[in-house]
Amino acid sequence: MSVLRNPNIVCKNTALCGHSRPLRSAIKAPGRWMEACSHTECTLHQISPYIGKLKSSIAADLIEKYSRPGDLVVDPFSGSATIPLEAALKGRRVFASDISPYARLLAGAKLSPPRSLEKALLQIEETLQAARRLRGPNLRDIPEWVRKFFHPKTLKEAVNFAGACRNSGNEFLLACLLGILHHQRPGFLSYPSSHLVPYLRNKAYPRDEFPQMYTYRELRPRMIAKVVRVFARFSNPQVAPQITYRQGAIQHITFPWRFDSLITSPPYMNALDYGRDNRLRLWFIDPHSGPPVESGVTRHARVFIDAMCCLASKVDAGLRRSGHCVLIVGESVKRSFRGHPSSVVLQIMSERAKSLQLREVISDEIPDVRRTRGDIKGVKAEHFLVFQKT
Ligand SMILES: C[S@@+](CC[C@H](N)C(=O)[O-])C[C@H]1O[C@@H](n2cnc3c(N)ncnc32)[C@H](O)[C@@H]1O
Repeated sequence: MSVLRNPNIVCKNTALCGHSRPLRSAIKAPGRWMEACSHTECTLHQISPYIGKLKSSIAADLIEKYSRPGDLVVDPFSGSATIPLEAALKGRRVFASDISPYARLLAGAKLSPPRSLEKALLQIEETLQAARRLRGPNLRDIPEWVRKFFHPKTLKEAVNFAGACRNSGNEFLLACLLGILHHQRPGFLSYPSSHLVPYLRNKAYPRDEFPQMYTYRELRPRMIAKVVRVFARFSNPQVAPQITYRQGAIQHITFPWRFDSLITSPPYMNALDYGRDNRLRLWFIDPHSGPPVESGVTRHARVFIDAMCCLASKVDAGLRRSGHCVLIVGESVKRSFRGHPSSVVLQIMSERAKSLQLREVISDEIPDVRRTRGDIKGVKAEHFLVFQKT
């Protein structure tokens, strides 16, 4: 029975084995994909963390192999814009989209940064002046779950700075602010907390033993240091002339009528909750937005399948002949789900994208250091499914 009609049967049934045959012949990912790239990549990639972020070196390899300079590369689940930024740096045209407002902000910051470090530093001073002119905030109007992360004086500075960034539309500085929002290191603004997802670490660092970690943290020197770090290895500010970005669920995004390749990492099925895990940063992006956006893709197999069906139909219609489509599918283990989600994706592609043929499957083990959250035990391996339009 088709996965499209009854996902539960597929999820629980070994009938999917036929579709896992290509997976058994998967080739191993190149050894260099395991190597750290934080000391060689463009430092714009490090502006702010993002769960499920792809390594920039892997994105660079895929773009190099499956597109040519001048090609139009599409990424409809662009997250922190790793693939769009690498594509732009390699002279490709880009069409990217994502459902999350945090993803939209990071794409704006990475794809249209200030022209130089000097310009960015000047913008900090202007934004600080504008922030000082803003009234408030009244701390009692800020939700308790936000307040508990910051010293009151630091929180006021951060809220006003974020407000001034929003008023002037400065996505780059707002993204830099979000990049230093929470962590336990001195260069960050919060009380001791984790970096990727916001959890206070007051048990590991009790207030009476570590009083210095609970004092006021001035925003200005930390913002300056952050911007200097972001510009450390970034010599080509004119990233790319042709970039189109849309915020929205894949179901509502109109793809370009013709594109040369599609390279994307869809959400991990049943493994991550992008809204919950980015909740503090989302509050600074829009304090009035209410509970974070969550498409449900990451919680319900049915919604994941709908999103993948939509992707398959759009790539079938728009990909040019002999163009490549690369889907990076993470593994998640759910009680009711046996096998790798890529077997579901393969079946959807064979039913909805008939003009595409599977060319190869690359399997990449995710080492612990690349796991996004300690409590997620299930994400074990990524499968790179490479299709080509016939
Ligand atoms: C694995 S992440 C992409 C990571 C990205 N490649 C990077 O390097 O940062 C998957 C993305 O899918 C987005 N997403 C989830 N459901 C979606 C939907 N229905 N339509 C569009 N984007 C969605 C999430 O917001 C998330 O950014």
